[in-house]
Amino acid sequence: MTQSPLLNALAGRIQEEDVSFRTRMLEAAGGLNDVIALGRGDPDFHTPPHIAAAAKRAIDENQHHYTHPAGLPQLREAIVEHLSSEYNLSYGMDEIIVTAGVQESIMLLMLGLVNPGDEVLITSPRFTTYDSAVTLCGGVPVPVPTYEKDDFALMPGEIEQRITPRTKVLVLVTPNNPTGAVTPPAVIREIADICIRHDLILISDEIYAKLIYPGSEHLAAASLPGMKERTITLNGFSKSYAMTGWRVGYMAAPEAFTRMLVEPRHTLSINANTPAQFAALAALTGPQDAVDAMLEAYGERRAYLMDALSTLGFTYGHPGGAFYIYTNVSSSGMPSPEFCLRLLKEAEVMIFPGSLFGDDSDQYIRISYLQPMPRIREAVARIDGFMRTIA
Ligand SMILES: Cc1ncc(COP(=O)(O)O)c(C=O)c1O
Repeated sequence: MTQSPLLNALAGRIQEEDVSFRTRMLEAAGGLNDVIALGRGDPDFHTPPHIAAAAKRAIDENQHHYTHPAGLPQLREAIVEHLSSEYNLSYGMDEIIVTAGVQESIMLLMLGLVNPGDEVLITSPRFTTYDSAVTLCGGVPVPVPTYEKDDFALMPGEIEQRITPRTKVLVLVTPNNPTGAVTPPAVIREIADICIRHDLILISDEIYAKLIYPGSEHLAAASLPGMKERTITLNGFSKSYAMTGWRVGYMAAPEAFTRMLVEPRHTLSINANTPAQFAALAALTGPQDAVDAMLEAYGERRAYLMDALSTLGFTYGHPGGAFYIYTNVSSSGMPSPEFCLRLLKEAEVMIFPGSLFGDDSDQYIRISYLQPMPRIREAVARIDGFMRTIA
């Protein structure tokens, strides 16, 4: 028994996380001076200047007070317009809650939906914040595996197998982190049908929906008949507008539900940072050329990397969206955590293994192409050199 009164007092919901692998990676990187980081999901581009300028203007004009807990009305109106024109979604401004990133929406939603023992199905490999949020609320995260042979699309049969009387929510993340998989519209229709038949709530995380490459198509589940009333659509600014540190995201859901979440939302952080909300407003209402230019750059990097990885003898599921390639490195003969550690120490390229995304197959790594093209070429040359040394 520990002597620390604080540790003794820790609530049962707080569990010690196994951070040993991440810590080992960071320690290994600490002694190196030219690491090419293809690990984090944080764009290398800076926030477009007109967006940053809107936040500065808000500060200069003293627009830095609390907002409505659901967010600035003019931002919620712009979100409504954006969801309608981009994704054929029909929401009113009272159906939007602006949060500190999609991250806060996820926690708020689980607080709002999950009772102890409720099961939440989650597309996997996965963004493991979902697991933590469900567990903190006493629920049970249930991964629904996706496979390279299906390009990591979420398959209806895998969902149905895992439905029990305790299943309450399904989390669909498309495009997906870490796989880049875009679940095809025909499959989304089948998933919608499952949700209706089994009376499931759908959380549709569409944070990467602006980052779709030719040949793939995004369908917003809540635009399908019978789905709006059982879906919460999540989206935000971090990825498509290179605004990770600004912390603005949102949820959209029928008003009868969002109204019930305004009070807990107020309890969490009252409102999303006010100048950052003005920045988000400028992102939606201002010119979109910076977004187009970033998407073009990501597309070029992706095409180059897909070729290069195939040449190196690696396979992957087709990455139709986001900025990740979930790559099978079993041809290296090493489990992927060891592959990542050695690649870091011996070639100074930092990539995360699938184990950080709830994938214990030890076959995959997530490459995020969030470095300028010359650095990506250099990373490929280093991976090539590394593969030769282990051959
Ligand atoms: C699938 C997914 N959802 C939500 C988030 C959280 O994004 P943010 O809180 O920056 O909006 C991320 C971040 O990586 C993500 O990959």
